[in-house]
Amino acid sequence: ARVDKGGHRHFMAKEIAEQPSVLSDTLNAYLTDSGIALPDPGIDFAALDRLTITACGTAYLAGFTAKYWFEQIARLPVEVDVASEFRYREPPITPNTAALFISQSGETADTLAALRYCKGKASALYSVVNVPESSIARESDLALPIHAGVEIGVASTKAFTCQLTVLLLLALKAAEDRGHLPPAARDEILTHLRALPGVFNTALGRDEVIENVAQELAEARDILFLGRGLMYPLAHEGALKLKEISYIHAEAYASGELKHGPIALIDQHVPVVVLAPRDRLFDKTVSNMQEVMARGGRVVLITDAAGAESAGAEAWRVIQMPEVSDLLAPILYALPAQLLAYHTAVAKGTDVDQPRNLAKSVTVE
Ligand code: G6P
Repeated sequence: ARVDKGGHRHFMAKEIAEQPSVLSDTLNAYLTDSGIALPDPGIDFAALDRLTITACGTAYLAGFTAKYWFEQIARLPVEVDVASEFRYREPPITPNTAALFISQSGETADTLAALRYCKGKASALYSVVNVPESSIARESDLALPIHAGVEIGVASTKAFTCQLTVLLLLALKAAEDRGHLPPAARDEILTHLRALPGVFNTALGRDEVIENVAQELAEARDILFLGRGLMYPLAHEGALKLKEISYIHAEAYASGELKHGPIALIDQHVPVVVLAPRDRLFDKTVSNMQEVMARGGRVVLITDAAGAESAGAEAWRVIQMPEVSDLLAPILYALPAQLLAYHTAVAKGTDVDQPRNLAKSVTVE
């Protein structure tokens, strides 16, 4: 079927706005009354000693986020690599290691080659894909569809949040299988997850605030993204989205690593986007934010009501997100990162859906 922009100015805007609905589709595909259900033959995470995740681009950053989830809640060690590095490093695959590949298209050449490298070495090959009939899906022992629907904008948006959702469900399943998630705790998280599409809807209502900030960011030549813990991989996604469509140089750093280099770049010309819901690491991130401000840096703080209340007055601009439980924050905070990139690109007049030099799916090495 032909896909149109549904009244939006760009496919990217349409795909960002679709997230409440596609996230519901993803959740409905994996959640039953009795909990998390995977397609046959399922995955027994209790039998695994390690998981190795491989992907490219935005899919890689979904995998990077998943590492935090799997390790924190399922106590399963995870290695995560960009596909082009993974296979040429010729990593040993230790016993009881499963390999997981993430790809929107399911056709990315490097990711497919990494999967083929793992054949006969890993205990099983799993994939998280948007195209169930793709090469990566076909060559996996189990392909888990993300149900994002067709994605046309070159910069991935709804596929990313649907990938994250499937990966969080997998991490929860792993935590259950490995005896680290009592049913009551699991049910509480699943209740939050079921509410997520509604929270996304609320967050979409903050679009105008984000657009105003983007108008100002469009003047910058360099922008830094900071995050800690679950927000660190997302800082990378924010920087990636921004650079690929607005052509503004953007870099991501772990908040705590700022003092080991990038702080040398800070002055009033380099805006710093800080992703920091008020979680257990919030105060540490705020102290990094203060280091930036002490050097004249302008901070855009993306946080929740509690975070805005405690640190918002110091920031240059605040983008306030609805409340969400800590584990789910990377999925929700992807939205302001996407909107910031989108509106900055629109302000700069770039070709948002077809940025120069980039392809939706890279099927050559
Ligand atoms: C290209 C696209 C990105 C995408 C990456 C991986 O670089 O521009 O948006 O994240 O490929 O693609 P895949 O289809 O494997 O997720």
